[in-house]
Amino acid sequence: MPTQTPEIQSVDDVIEMIRPAVRAQHEYVVGAPDGIEVKLNQNESPFDLPEELKTELAGAFAQVDFNRYPDEQPYRLRERIAEYDGVDPEAIIVGNGSNEITYTFGMAFMDPGTPVVLPTPMFSLYEKVARLHEADLTRVGPREDLSFDTEAIIDAVKQTGARVTIVTSPNNPTGKAMPLADIERIVDAAPGMVVVDEAYVEFNPEGTAVDLLDDHPNVIILRTLSKGFGLAGLRVGYLIGHPRVVREMMKSRLPFMVDRFAEQAALAILNRPDLLSERVEALTASVQQLTSAMEEMNGVEVVPSAANFVLFTTPLSSADLQDRLADQGVLIRDMSGYPELEGYIRVSAGTEAENKAFLGALDNAL
Ligand SMILES: Cc1ncc(COP(=O)(O)O)c(C=O)c1O
Repeated sequence: MPTQTPEIQSVDDVIEMIRPAVRAQHEYVVGAPDGIEVKLNQNESPFDLPEELKTELAGAFAQVDFNRYPDEQPYRLRERIAEYDGVDPEAIIVGNGSNEITYTFGMAFMDPGTPVVLPTPMFSLYEKVARLHEADLTRVGPREDLSFDTEAIIDAVKQTGARVTIVTSPNNPTGKAMPLADIERIVDAAPGMVVVDEAYVEFNPEGTAVDLLDDHPNVIILRTLSKGFGLAGLRVGYLIGHPRVVREMMKSRLPFMVDRFAEQAALAILNRPDLLSERVEALTASVQQLTSAMEEMNGVEVVPSAANFVLFTTPLSSADLQDRLADQGVLIRDMSGYPELEGYIRVSAGTEAENKAFLGALDNAL
């Protein structure tokens, strides 16, 4: 006798089949109201590639065979990144933005119940990936100044036997950098992997934790070309890890994640260190300018930043302030979705003209 299969009556029956861990998530939506002229809500670089470089790239791209797959790993870019970071090319995975690599990392290291330690507040993708894999998540709250609480992280790592610990430095959304010695203490205490997300490393006076890899095969460094390098639209990020760990992780990847155009553009900007240092210098000055101007405003409290954005509070509610600025054509980000950041707003460092527009709009709103 064939078994009776339940009939699908409606789309609800289909939705029910989606894993509960997926249904419990939210879509990643970034607000985009009409009439925005100054966009300072996503920690992007305000600097596009110079026009002549774009034209040169467009010409080079016309020579590419569009009908052929790209290399699985873009080996030229991999080698160039290896040179840039002083590591072995085999230690690198290049991906479709570091977001994609975070997913690959989750696939490789997280099972249902895997103990994961996540200091908060932190870039929301990490919690999402852990929850999608039904990992056993332990969140560790910050100190009063919003910096990561090293002692509490070490305690949590030991108590839970964390298989995965995530540290972002400088952290988004706080802009706080962790001293390298503290990262090393966490790595020494951790019985599992420690991911150090260095999306904003170009702005960090503490520098990179990459040297930890020399003695610690359980460290993974994540980088992106979306911030300091200004390539957010082309989606290039990478991971640095122990070559053997990298080789195993490759098995969990989707192939061909970096297209030929993104590879060319990434090579072009990596071959212009003058552009990078000019931009980082300008954005560091931009953060300083925003910080000191806001500190002079009545009732505005600023969190000192080691990244390319600034977190702050005002006497207004953050949702209200976001609306008042959007009405004036300036887009910033209300961060109160993070439980620790009720009332906080984040603004990306812009060009001088963008900062001026933002500061004027903020003054009006207050
Ligand atoms: C800490 C952190 N990691 C990663 C990313 C995303 O990087 P990508 O554009 O390479 O996916 C961001 C973007 O805001 C971020 O803040």
